[in-house]
Amino acid sequence: MSIRYLRENLETRVERERKEFFSGLVNLDRRSFLKVASASMTAALGAGMAGFGSFQPMKIALGADAQGNEQSIKIAYLSDSHLYQKHINDRFANALARAVEDVNAMEEAPDFIFYGGDLAQLGQPEELDLGAEILSGLKYRDRLRIMVGEHDWYYDMGEKWQSLFGSPRWTFDLKGVRFVCLMSVNEEDFWTEAGMSPLERMKTVAGLDNQMQRPFFVGDEQIAWLEKTLADWKDDQPVIVFSHSPLYKLYKNWNFWTDDAEKVQAVLKRFQKVTVIHGHTHQVLTNKIENIHFHGLLSTAWPWPYAPEGMPEWTVQMNRSDPFNSADGCGDGEIRVNADGLVDKVYALWNRKPMLVPAAYLNEEEGAKRPDRPNLPAY
Ligand SMILES: [Fe+2]
Ligand SMILES: [Fe+2]
Repeated sequence: MSIRYLRENLETRVERERKEFFSGLVNLDRRSFLKVASASMTAALGAGMAGFGSFQPMKIALGADAQGNEQSIKIAYLSDSHLYQKHINDRFANALARAVEDVNAMEEAPDFIFYGGDLAQLGQPEELDLGAEILSGLKYRDRLRIMVGEHDWYYDMGEKWQSLFGSPRWTFDLKGVRFVCLMSVNEEDFWTEAGMSPLERMKTVAGLDNQMQRPFFVGDEQIAWLEKTLADWKDDQPVIVFSHSPLYKLYKNWNFWTDDAEKVQAVLKRFQKVTVIHGHTHQVLTNKIENIHFHGLLSTAWPWPYAPEGMPEWTVQMNRSDPFNSADGCGDGEIRVNADGLVDKVYALWNRKPMLVPAAYLNEEEGAKRPDRPNLPAY
C-alpha cells in the first residue's frame, strides 16, 4: 500500500479508487499466471504425464514459454522530472521524490525500474547530480535503467549525463524479452553557424516549439546497431524498445516526432510482439502502427497539452488538468509484460483514477474494451 493512501485529504475517494485499481492489478497477475499454468497443464497432460499437483497460488506471475523462458515482468517507471537546481525551484524535485516514494511502496518488487529521460531541465551538472541523488533513494536502485532526454543532453552534449549513467543506448534480455534503449533525440547542428553558447543551445532545444531547433532523429549508425542487436532474435520473440521521443511522427512543431521513425519501424516490423515505450510527451498517449504498440509515459513535472492536430485514434485522452493543482496530470506508473510478451500499460495519474491500457485493447481481442477516461467528475 502506498504511503499516500494514509494521508487524509480532499482526494480520499480518488485515493481509494487508486488502491482498488492496484489491488485489481495483483489479481491480473494471478490471472496471467493461471493462463500460463493452464497452458503448462495442457502440455503436461498432452505428454501423458500424471499427477499434476494442486494449484498453488503465486504472488508474482511467472510461467515459461515454449523455449523455457520465464515470462511476466513488472517494470515501475518514472519520467520527465525536469529538475532545476533546488535553490531555483524545488517543486519538481519534490515531485520526483514523490514518484520514488511510489515505487518504494509497491507491494511487490519490480523486476526493474525505468527512468524515461529529461531528468534535468537545462542539462546543468547540478541538476543531473540532484536527480541522481533523488533516484538513489529508490529501494531497488540497483535495478534502475535510465534513458536520456534532450533536456539532459544539449548543454554539454551528454558529457555529464554519461559520466553518471553510462551509455545512452543499451540492451539486455530478461525472462525471454529483449529490451533495447535508443538515443532518439539527436539533432542536426543548428548552433555552430548561429554562434550559440552551450546554454543558448540547451535553451533552444528546451524551447520545444521555438521553430529554431531541428527534428529529432535516431540516425543510420544507430539503426544499424539496432538491426544487429536484434539479428539473433526470432520473429515470435518479444521485443520492447525504449526511446525518449515517440518513434513515429505526431506533431513536428513540438518535436513529438522522430524524423527517421519509419526506418526504425522497418527494423521492428518483423516481430510479432513488439512494443515501443517513450517519454517526452508527458501525457496519456497510445498508438499502434501495423503490429507495433506504442505507449507514452507520464511526467512527474507537468502534463503537456495534446498536439493541436489531434491524437492517434488509439489514444484515450486524459482530461485537462486542474490549473489549480500542480500535481494534476502528472504521475508515474507500471509497464507490465504479460506472459505472451505484450505490454499492459498503467498510467498512475496522481490525482485521478489510474488508467490501464491493455495489450488486448490494442490487439483488438474479442471482448477487449476501449479504456475508460481517467476522469474526475468535479472538472
Ligand atoms: Fe520532458
Ligand atoms: Fe523531452
